[in-house]
Amino acid sequence: MQVALTKLKAAAALAALLVFLAVAPGASAQQTDPAPGPEEAVGGAVPGSSLGVASDTDFWREIRRGASGTAQQPHELGGVLIQSEGDNWRAVRNGPLKTYGVWLMIGIIGLLALFFALRGRIKIEHGPAGTTIERFTGLERFGHWLTAGSFIVLAITGLNLMYGRYVLMPVMGKEAYAFITNAGKWVHNWIAFAFMAGLVLIFIMWVAHNIPNKTDLKWLAKGGGLFSKGVHPDSKKFNAGQKIIFWATILGGASLSLSGWALLDPFTTTMFADTFALVNTLGFNLPTNLTLMEEQQLAVVWHGIVSLVMIAIILAHIYIGSIGMEGAFAAMGSGQVDLNWAREHHNLWVEEEMSKSGVGRAQPAE
Ligand code: HEM
Repeated sequence: MQVALTKLKAAAALAALLVFLAVAPGASAQQTDPAPGPEEAVGGAVPGSSLGVASDTDFWREIRRGASGTAQQPHELGGVLIQSEGDNWRAVRNGPLKTYGVWLMIGIIGLLALFFALRGRIKIEHGPAGTTIERFTGLERFGHWLTAGSFIVLAITGLNLMYGRYVLMPVMGKEAYAFITNAGKWVHNWIAFAFMAGLVLIFIMWVAHNIPNKTDLKWLAKGGGLFSKGVHPDSKKFNAGQKIIFWATILGGASLSLSGWALLDPFTTTMFADTFALVNTLGFNLPTNLTLMEEQQLAVVWHGIVSLVMIAIILAHIYIGSIGMEGAFAAMGSGQVDLNWAREHHNLWVEEEMSKSGVGRAQPAE
């Protein structure tokens, strides 16, 4: 009796669902042939099919390929039942993007560990001079730490969005993970503005010192002296390696900001179609008739790729600015660096500073 009642309920629910699907406005895509009316769809007939209870494969294939019907919604994709590019997008995002991202980070950490094992901490070769010179002003350090601090928060909360469900959720449980991820998403959205402000500030302060020149080629040819003791190629305020970090931060950061903005304010930009059109002027043939949905999907993937590459680059930067090189951190800590450190790594800059005011801004060490 109980079983019969349950079956009856299930049959009634199924019938109600079929009636709903048949009459629901805006939910069905149409072929050029007029689709069967609601009354034909009831009783087992496949909606949209002229074949009765048999499924019309051509019809469903068209839908699977993203054919658009009519809908009451004004949205450009309102009549599309299946946006097939979404499958590709999900496959790329959950597949290669996440996998290569992990390998990239493991790779860079492995390389830094190997470099540390082989080269050790790069010392001040002539020993500390006991005299310091001002390397960065308070404003410069503020700009650096605004960019750096916000980037680190963005990286942690962003990595949680990408990998947290695999790493943290099994450990802390769904409830706690949902809570921290929700909070992290909010923080990510707002800290982004501090990062953009930091980017603008360091760009204004440092762009003039980061224009590439011939000295950079010589510095690069000698590997910056990083791989051998006693080699100190000429350098002004920033060497070629630092210029690479600067431009990676500025260009990568700008690209992250734009694609991030597109995610904050969805379905409003055509930035990828516009960029592709620009690239096509160089002889490429990229698609420019992207739907707003495709724009959004590209923004998610691009934001992920650029952030992973930037995190890898910045890990190397953090290494060399802290444990990797004796005397480097002080530049962004107190702003004063040891004169011998400055002479070894930025000799031309020291000469410039000295000539500005006789003894430059050098001060005795405390
Ligand atoms: C704990 C993290 C970090 C540490 C310890 C650190 C350390 C440093 C140091 C010591 C310098 C000055 C180097 C010199 O005197 O020549 C510097 C410069 C710089 N930092 Fe950082 N930094 C960190 C994070 C970041 C982040 C997250 C970014 C950007 C997203 C960043 C961007 C830059 C840029 C563009 C420069 C100027 C170019 C260069 O020196 O490479 N830093 N950093």
